[in-house]
Amino acid sequence: MFILFTLLLFVENTQLQKIILYKYQENFKTNCTSSFVHKKDQIIFSSQIKTSADNSPGDSILVENIQYDLKRKNSVYEPFCYVFFNGCLQSSDKICYCLSTEHPDVFDIIINVTAFSHFSEAKLRGQMKYLEKIVYSEEISFPTIYDPNKTEVVLNINSKPVDTDKCAVIVNATDQVVIFFNLKHVFDIPFTLRVYDVLKEEHYESDSIFLIHVTEIETRQVYTFKYTVCNLQEYSKNFTCYIDTGRENKLHKVHTQTPDYALATSGLIISTITLLILLMQFLMRSFQKRLQKIEKDMNRRKFFSSIHKIDDESPMEGERKVYEQIPLNGI
Ligand SMILES: *[C@@H]1O[C@H](CO)[C@@H](O)[C@H](O)[C@H]1NC(C)=O
Ligand SMILES: *[C@@H]1O[C@H](CO)[C@@H](O)[C@H](O)[C@H]1NC(C)=O
Ligand SMILES: *[C@@H]1O[C@H](CO)[C@@H](O)[C@H](O)[C@H]1NC(C)=O
Ligand SMILES: *[C@@H]1O[C@H](CO)[C@@H](O)[C@H](O)[C@H]1NC(C)=O
Ligand SMILES: *[C@@H]1O[C@H](CO)[C@@H](O)[C@H](O)[C@H]1NC(C)=O
Repeated sequence: MFILFTLLLFVENTQLQKIILYKYQENFKTNCTSSFVHKKDQIIFSSQIKTSADNSPGDSILVENIQYDLKRKNSVYEPFCYVFFNGCLQSSDKICYCLSTEHPDVFDIIINVTAFSHFSEAKLRGQMKYLEKIVYSEEISFPTIYDPNKTEVVLNINSKPVDTDKCAVIVNATDQVVIFFNLKHVFDIPFTLRVYDVLKEEHYESDSIFLIHVTEIETRQVYTFKYTVCNLQEYSKNFTCYIDTGRENKLHKVHTQTPDYALATSGLIISTITLLILLMQFLMRSFQKRLQKIEKDMNRRKFFSSIHKIDDESPMEGERKVYEQIPLNGI
């Protein structure tokens, strides 16, 4: 009977002296709507302690202090912040502070920490230290903390990953080119993806988690890729990619010019050649027409001259001159 009573008392006491740690508040400052952002947000946990068992004066042992420990990913628990308790009379730490409640042995403790990305998914645990024992809270996890500066880009061209810092890819001219553009680990964050075809001056945009662009490349294509996270220009980045066919690449080896200049030059050469060909065709055609006309006239003249004597002032004169003007070396 006595043993049962002691056991009951013990169970009751451990239930009464306790430290509870609540989940952080979902309060976001930035437009990254449902994610904490590195250095921009504060993460606020609240904790509650019950220091002594009420109706049992013999058990009112003083709390020495309250400590919160933090365990980063792949690490062990280390002291994070303290509240030197003393009845919650003074605030001891900027990160953790104590607030009294209506109940003399119940106190609230606020843990207010800047969201550094290295706290991402860390674990937090409270300890209430008595002279002779320690009461622990349950473990609570930090949220995932997003650092916009460390946004990772995935860019695949024809299923091959591409280095976005110096993006130059060679593909087969006849192949379809499939571009896959997306961001890594940004599940809760609003973002947009854009591809700009520099030569065609066309934009492609996606609000979904990836962007796929399928195209065929005859010589060269230049794309600018851009992403914006949390609708903030501050967090947007862009990079440019050159996609060439092997053919174009050989041309580039001959000319040691910058790619854009070489492209412009080859364009100029092609259009000049085309113009020349058109001009020559035009000249040849009009030349042939004139030849045909002269041939007809010659036949006519032969026919008439057999009948009439040709006058020097005859209308034929002009045509004869034309005939004389035609350069013979072209025939
Ligand atoms: C959030 O977005 C809205 C509209 O897009 C903008 O007016 C506001 O300034 C943004 N807030 C922050 C903190 O960037
Ligand atoms: C948390 O800390 C920040 C920065 O020191 C402060 O602006 C904010 O008011 C604090 N919030 C609470 C609930 O303590
Ligand atoms: C990102 O990094 C740059 C320099 O590397 C820094 O100036 C900028 O403040 C950082 N932005 C954020 C949001 O941390
Ligand atoms: C182009 O196609 C040929 C044969 O179809 C193949 O051997 C070659 O690896 C391809 N080149 C590239 C860059 O895909
Ligand atoms: C691309 O980024 C550079 C800085 O890295 C910036 O000056 C430029 O305006 C950006 N271009 C676009 C189209 O956003």
